Amino acid sequence: DTIRILGAPTDYGASRRGVDMGPSAIRYAGLAATLSTLGVDPLDAGDLSVPPVEADDPGRADAKYLPAIESVCTELADRVADALADGDRPLVLGGDHSVAIGSVVGSTRDADIGVLWFDAHGDLNTPATTPSGNVHGMALAALLGHGEFASMSWTGTGIDPENVALVGVRDLDPGEREAIRDHGITTFSISEIDRRGVTSVVEDALDVVTGRDGVHVSLDLDWIDPTEAPGVGTPVRGGVTYREAHAALERVADEATVRSLELVEVNPILDDHNRTAELAIELAASALGKQIL
Ligand code: ARG
Ligand code: MN
Ligand code: MN
Ligand code: MN
Repeated sequence: DTIRILGAPTDYGASRRGVDMGPSAIRYAGLAATLSTLGVDPLDAGDLSVPPVEADDPGRADAKYLPAIESVCTELADRVADALADGDRPLVLGGDHSVAIGSVVGSTRDADIGVLWFDAHGDLNTPATTPSGNVHGMALAALLGHGEFASMSWTGTGIDPENVALVGVRDLDPGEREAIRDHGITTFSISEIDRRGVTSVVEDALDVVTGRDGVHVSLDLDWIDPTEAPGVGTPVRGGVTYREAHAALERVADEATVRSLELVEVNPILDDHNRTAELAIELAASALGKQIL
């Protein structure tokens, strides 16, 4: 079992600089060594080449750097699909969450997959509803072809809302609430985790999404409480605890086939001694089947 590591060092989709250093921070925290202890073979395919955001112009205010994001995601989709075609499992290191558009498009090519989106946010804005113009807040809407994204071929996946579950959200914009309602996107809020416990929520999410060819796990580190994961650009108080996060991903490993995985929004500039990158690795290990006993 080979895990192919693909770095996507972007911060085009975020408003705060530094998330482009996520892949370095995660590697520095010991990704390859941790994967090796799981009995999987890490194969580091390096980073996609991404021009620095300073060299570019944001362009339209309601979807900043969209052409640059399109070009990164188009290349990433091919790299993810190539990894899968070679029999490897892709592990994408972001970068901001807009890279998920590439990961999921690649993972779903010629396949039927479910998508688990662990996030404080819905990432369901469109250029018409975004309060920020940041495309990381639109990544899931792009994948589902909402609004203007319906006419963009590079975001198209054939992913249906029935095969997507949002887990642990606690910060939604008005347009995102509408999108959840109008498109019937399965959403488990943080309050539902409070009431029912994370394990049972994740089991329900997996009942919804499991595709014939497995699931894609999109892990935005701001899903976790900022006391454990301070190194993110858009922290929101009241996230899942350290233990809940592990329990959730252990459940995913037990109950589903993880086809592809991504760790996004790690920002070492905002971090406390790289602990968010370290946590990202630990959680990836849980999702890939790390056993305590
Ligand atoms: N909802 C806010 C926005 O649209 C924040 C999105 C944060 N997304 C993320 N992937 N961190 O700007
Ligand atoms: Mn498909
Ligand atoms: Mn988020
Ligand atoms: Mn996100």
